[in-house]
Amino acid sequence: MADNNRANFGSKLGVVAAAAGSAVGLGNIWRFPYELGQSGGGAFLLIYIVCIVLLGLPIMTSEFLIGRMSQSNAVGAFRKLGPKGSKWWLVGVMGVLSAFFIMGFYVVVSGWTLEYIVQAVTNSFANKDTETLTRAFTDFSTGTWRPIIWMTLFLVITCVIIVGGVKNGIEKSAKFMMPLLLIIIVALGVRAVTLPGGAEGLRFLFKPDFSKIDSSVVLNAMGQAFFSLSLGMGCMITYGSYINKKNHLAHTVLEVTFVDTIIAVLASIAIFPAVFSFGINPEQGPTLVFITLPNIFAHMPGGLIWSLLFFILLSIAALTSTISLLEVIVAFFTEEFKMSRAKAAIIASAGIWVLGVCASLSMGVWSDVHIFGFTIFDFLDNITSKIMMPLGGLLIALFAGWVMKKDQMLGELSNNGKYKTAYFRAYYFIVRFVAPVAILMIFLNQLGVFRWLRL
Ligand code: TRP
Repeated sequence: MADNNRANFGSKLGVVAAAAGSAVGLGNIWRFPYELGQSGGGAFLLIYIVCIVLLGLPIMTSEFLIGRMSQSNAVGAFRKLGPKGSKWWLVGVMGVLSAFFIMGFYVVVSGWTLEYIVQAVTNSFANKDTETLTRAFTDFSTGTWRPIIWMTLFLVITCVIIVGGVKNGIEKSAKFMMPLLLIIIVALGVRAVTLPGGAEGLRFLFKPDFSKIDSSVVLNAMGQAFFSLSLGMGCMITYGSYINKKNHLAHTVLEVTFVDTIIAVLASIAIFPAVFSFGINPEQGPTLVFITLPNIFAHMPGGLIWSLLFFILLSIAALTSTISLLEVIVAFFTEEFKMSRAKAAIIASAGIWVLGVCASLSMGVWSDVHIFGFTIFDFLDNITSKIMMPLGGLLIALFAGWVMKKDQMLGELSNNGKYKTAYFRAYYFIVRFVAPVAILMIFLNQLGVFRWLRL
């Protein structure tokens, strides 16, 4: 079954950098802080961490296992490991489709980060009030050409790195970008904490306000955990298939999850003290990064440097994630249709580009084109994070817990008895019972939300 010519991540550090690169993205730096700001600060953090441990760890373990055992792309993996003639490969097809859909809106926001790097360099946040900055953001994001040009550039960069291959493209770029990202975010955190009045932000972040917690906050935290760890659509199956047979899978899972969580927390440490120091409402929502932060930078000593660092950080984080999303599709095309990497990457990028243009235009001139009541952008976001990923995660848990052979899984996790697997019983119990029930709960709730929206 193992194909000796199959591409591999070269080093242990490379595996962690690439997988953490996938996990750490707009989800950590843009989405996590605003979700936290809207849902009770520390209380959300606490529930999020419970979700990471109970759901994130076992599902990532399952995806890595499925990938490394099968040495295949997301579709091929289920076909190789599932019973003959079964339809499990459809889970992989849904994953590849999810990759297209997620990329469709993700590259739009990624493109915005490039525009904001340029804005930072040209010092255009300086001396502007909130109203002006809000108008600037709205004008830009609803415009026709500028966002599309940035999105196209971002997609081209992603495509070039993917064509470079697993080792020389994905791994090499991640080993360069991830340490840089860590340095920038720590610098930003230190700067924010030392602002006058910054302590209040830390208090908000770490002191749980349980009165804000209700069932929808719990379910949001679970959805965020999925999105942030790149789970539920075969991304970690694909990366798992490149992990060397000598690597310790469980350690890799712990390291990637740790880095992802720490970066989400560091991003919040960088953002909230500054929010409080400048008297801005922490419950801003999705505009927090593109309107509130430039506002903060505009009134901060050395604002140009800090805003430049911040938007470079955001685009690096986004890039290592778009790379992983494109790789899901490219691995599928190259292995199932025997295409070259370059051809697969170009065809996939062209498809994503079309979706991305539609999503970008849906912010402006196409804002009254609706699919099930959503704009194209919101439709792609909602159908993936509220339906396709939870469903994928549920099916992956069921596949690992009920279809795969237990002793083969044990062999893969222990590298044929070399490593201790004392955690296996807990993992197996969670993946069979706890995770499916928990995910089913998120899923039903989301369907309930859709019904409430009268879809
Ligand atoms: N995890 C990334 C983030 O936090 C986004 C991402 C990359 C992703 N690959 C994925 C999300 C696969 C879901 C599935 O921004």
